[in-house]
Amino acid sequence: MKKGFIFDLDGVIVDTAKYHFLAWQNLANSLGISFSLAQNEQLKGVSRVRSLEKILEWGDKTISEEEFTRLMREKNEEYLNYISKMDINEILPDVPRILDNLISRGQAIALGSASKNARVILEKVQLIDKFHAIVDGTNVSKAKPDPEVFLIGAQQLDISPEHCIVFEDSVAGIQAANTANMISIGIGDAKVLHEADYIFTNFTEIKEEFINNLVLARKV
Ligand code: BG6
Ligand code: MG
Repeated sequence: MKKGFIFDLDGVIVDTAKYHFLAWQNLANSLGISFSLAQNEQLKGVSRVRSLEKILEWGDKTISEEEFTRLMREKNEEYLNYISKMDINEILPDVPRILDNLISRGQAIALGSASKNARVILEKVQLIDKFHAIVDGTNVSKAKPDPEVFLIGAQQLDISPEHCIVFEDSVAGIQAANTANMISIGIGDAKVLHEADYIFTNFTEIKEEFINNLVLARKV
């Protein structure tokens, strides 16, 4: 049976959280706001605009609309500078094995990411050709946990939501997949991602038999 496999990007396919951290930390410090790794964790899956709003809330700062726009642009320029140096070595372990396994079975594959930089990152790590559909921050109006990004992905793959499986590292993304009535697979910490239907620390733990069962499964 043909299923739709939808992958989040940041934290699932590549570990870009470290680059977001460096850029957000720089921005926060320039405003006299401290920014920790724990706070960076809370920005996973969160849109660029909402991330800056949260940092300003944490620092109890108010800024003008013009400064907000300037800071967003500067943050992204710094982030893109890190991204420009990415290559295939930054793909997380066993992601190509899973993608190639699904492709060899004729399964449909989509990206479902909040990032507006998704295409450039997929190009840098040379995975862009593995995806039949790419839905990213440039295509959605509602951020995760809203299911919009995954529902558009399913639509573009022409697979009904209950026949889709989502791989996600953020709580908001798992909630979005569950709301979309898709099978949710958490990649990361089981304590954090406990709302997922299945949880793995990373893709190396996912065996071929599990993929076989997903191809046959249906969310009830
Ligand atoms: C998500 C990341 O995938 O994309 C967030 O987890 C990030 O940390 C968001 O803020 C938006 O990304 P970008 O690349 O458009 O700034
Ligand atoms: Mg993510």
